[in-house]
Amino acid sequence: MDEILVIDYGSQYTRLLARKIREIGVYSRVDVPQKACPSDKTMGIILSGGPKSVYSSNTLDIPDWVLPSGIPILGICYGMHLLVQKFGGKVLRGRVFEYGMTTVKLSEDPIFSGLPRTVKTWMSHGDSVEKIPKNFSEIAKSKAGITAAIRSNDEKIYAFQFHPEVFHTEHGVEMIRYFVTHVCKAKKNWKIGNYADFAVEKVRESIGNSKVIGAISGGVDSAVAAIITMRAVGENLQCVFIDNGLLRKEDESVPEKLRELGMKVKRVDASELFLEKLKGVTDPEQKRKIIGETFIEVFEKEAKLFDAEYLLQGTIYSDVIESAAASATSSKIKSHHNVGGLPEKMNLKLVEPLRELFKDEVREVGKLLGLSPDILNRHPFPGPGLAVRIIGEVTKKRVDILKRVDDVYTQILRKSGEYSKIWQAFSVLLSVKSVGVKGDERSYGYVVALRAVNSIEGMTAAWYPMPHDVLRKISSSITDRVPEIGRVVYDVSDKPPATIEWE
Ligand code: XMP
Repeated sequence: MDEILVIDYGSQYTRLLARKIREIGVYSRVDVPQKACPSDKTMGIILSGGPKSVYSSNTLDIPDWVLPSGIPILGICYGMHLLVQKFGGKVLRGRVFEYGMTTVKLSEDPIFSGLPRTVKTWMSHGDSVEKIPKNFSEIAKSKAGITAAIRSNDEKIYAFQFHPEVFHTEHGVEMIRYFVTHVCKAKKNWKIGNYADFAVEKVRESIGNSKVIGAISGGVDSAVAAIITMRAVGENLQCVFIDNGLLRKEDESVPEKLRELGMKVKRVDASELFLEKLKGVTDPEQKRKIIGETFIEVFEKEAKLFDAEYLLQGTIYSDVIESAAASATSSKIKSHHNVGGLPEKMNLKLVEPLRELFKDEVREVGKLLGLSPDILNRHPFPGPGLAVRIIGEVTKKRVDILKRVDDVYTQILRKSGEYSKIWQAFSVLLSVKSVGVKGDERSYGYVVALRAVNSIEGMTAAWYPMPHDVLRKISSSITDRVPEIGRVVYDVSDKPPATIEWE
């Protein structure tokens, strides 16, 4: 299937760009500059915008293979500046700023054919093109006289100062369509409905007859990745579900649900081992480290038994940018544990069939593959599980209390219809106890905090304004059904400055 590769320099609109191209009917893949590679079906490359200036320190360059490949290129904003510099033009540093709606005059160029000569576009830039490179022509100018678009004389490279992918840019989709279908000559044969077949074929081609091992959590990503891989390699996929004793009640049925789809899933009960290792540990980073290492220890044992050459991972695009961002900056907020540490240690090759997809697309593919709605629409759950939702020491008793609280909370959210309006909701067991009164007696019970947020891919989050009657019901049901709890509080912190999880 023909594809357009979008190289992501960190613009908030990259996602939209890939989306728009897929909506046009051409497959589009996004990757970070450090990792992006062409395939024999890469018909075009888009260099996205980004928050940096080409003059900042640590800027990301155009990957070395791009220009010699001769594949048509479209540079947008920062991507345009990179191209201008590469071809010997000049970018002017931060003297003219254009933000928001900007009127642009278009020249007679095929990419603008059939469009009005003046259009409103969305701009967001401080740097601009001062000198157009040799063998390029200016094809659009902004009202302030800034170069708004250029094209190479061989008509293979285009660059826009404005963002054609943003809704506010008039006729932006037509410009993208022309680039994709006429300049790149990409065939329109993409539909999200075909993705599963396409991914199955790709996995089959890359793995052949080798064996694959995959860790299944309760989440949608690992489940969808596993179904695709199972369709590609059948019996050669072995899934392992490690019960670390830190799971939600609803996660416990996952192996059974996947087996119903024909998957080989081995359940390993390692709860005693995890809890033993966490004994006396209160530091959040320490907890994450112990859980990560114990996970590897258990998984390694299983992988040896199966003699696997490949490791299946449910990496999706937001994980790709998150890890790229993490490696580009030195400040660690939290060490995230999924199974990221496994391949280096175990010498396994990676299979990541969902690497290019966004969360909602993963859900759509999962639905087409017959995954139960209950797994598909489940809120995200961190690798270290309930351990990072128990402040202080993780003991069997405290895990048990939190599990019951979480179950009450989730059930009421589902029944009231709130669950699907929320990106992520969970409860946190605090390390303080609080005085209360039960009957005529003074009581001294645990405090639990409820959190519910809406979020864009987990990067930022806004606390959810839960209807008061639902909150009241949740609170009274928790204290009724979990007698160890004496007080329920609601978390009203956004991310930033708070993170979504408490630890
Ligand atoms: P934070 O707490 O960093 O969380 O705002 C952002 C999103 O990531 C999830 N999260 C994790 N996921 N391993 C994971 O797989 C982890 O260690 C981890 N820590 C946080 C969190 O639930 C939220 O959705």
